[in-house]
Amino acid sequence: MDLSVTIGSLHLKNPVIAASGCFGYGVEYADLVDLSSLGAIVVKGLFLEAREGHPAPRIVETPAGMLNAIGLQGIGVRRFVDEKLPELRARHATVIVNVCGTTIDEYAEVTRILADADGVDAIELNISCPNIKEGGIQFGCSLSGTFDVVSRVRKVTRLPIIPKLTPNVTDVASFARASEEGGADAVSLVNTFLAMVIDVESRRPKISNVVGGLSGPAIRPIAVRMVYECRQMVKIPIIGIGGIVDARDALEFMIAGATAVQVGTANFVDPFIWPKLLEGLRQYLQRHHVTHVRDLIGTVDLQAKDKEWISS
Ligand SMILES: Cc1cc2nc3c(=O)[nH]c(=O)nc-3n(C[C@H](O)[C@H](O)[C@H](O)COP(=O)(O)O)c2cc1C
Repeated sequence: MDLSVTIGSLHLKNPVIAASGCFGYGVEYADLVDLSSLGAIVVKGLFLEAREGHPAPRIVETPAGMLNAIGLQGIGVRRFVDEKLPELRARHATVIVNVCGTTIDEYAEVTRILADADGVDAIELNISCPNIKEGGIQFGCSLSGTFDVVSRVRKVTRLPIIPKLTPNVTDVASFARASEEGGADAVSLVNTFLAMVIDVESRRPKISNVVGGLSGPAIRPIAVRMVYECRQMVKIPIIGIGGIVDARDALEFMIAGATAVQVGTANFVDPFIWPKLLEGLRQYLQRHHVTHVRDLIGTVDLQAKDKEWISS
């Protein structure tokens, strides 16, 4: 059985990737999880400089999910390169760095620093965080902004570039297209959905930023639909994200058109989820007599309308 998949020039030993912001800088989990057993890890979003993020409370549980407004707290790209990357390299992790910026120049500069460092395998462009006001999602909510960030970053690196798209737009597939036209090697989707939770006793929002991003199983069917729509629109690989908690969920994204998947919130519930996900994928392949997991990509059967199991 072969779980390997390819994203541009990036060869992953399996399609299971730890999502940004839910796996620290990877090193925090290194004693719990064999980092080299994952397809890749995406580290927490990085700007040029360190950021404090928003004041607490920054997360709250919701039905089948959670709301967060961390505000992209981080140590800045240079400290990441000096202090975290060497250990990730030593642990043989495949490392994707989630790159943030308040300006297009900042995206390009952070990427340039990472491209010069040893041990970075790909760049995920975070143009979709709903929790910061300046830059970021403003590029990701504009087709020309998306194109401009991607095409500018394209000029500073040969590393695979993977813009991460926001679901907080009407037609996400057109943003996948703008990314492809800008020179992206793949797109990842989705980031979190803008949402709000209010404590009715105090009548106050439950997180300090008032609004935040919703993640977890609650968003999964919407994310699957978005991956499916993007698959019709672009040729580049898609990385599916949103509410994956087991192998069946991961397979749903792949059958809808994703080449690989990322898992975020589920890692907070169960940090030992990773070997179970991989074993679940293997068992499915065995049961369905499929040798290569990549043969499942985009194989949703739309001709089966008259089959009994659909009408029942
Ligand atoms: C606490 C938290 C922090 C996050 N931080 C980032 C981040 O720094 N950059 C990013 O692109 N996405 C970030 N995300 C979004 C996740 O990577 C993922 O896209 C989203 O949570 C949906 O996947 P999930 O339902 O599996 O969690 C964060 C999500 C959570 C819950």
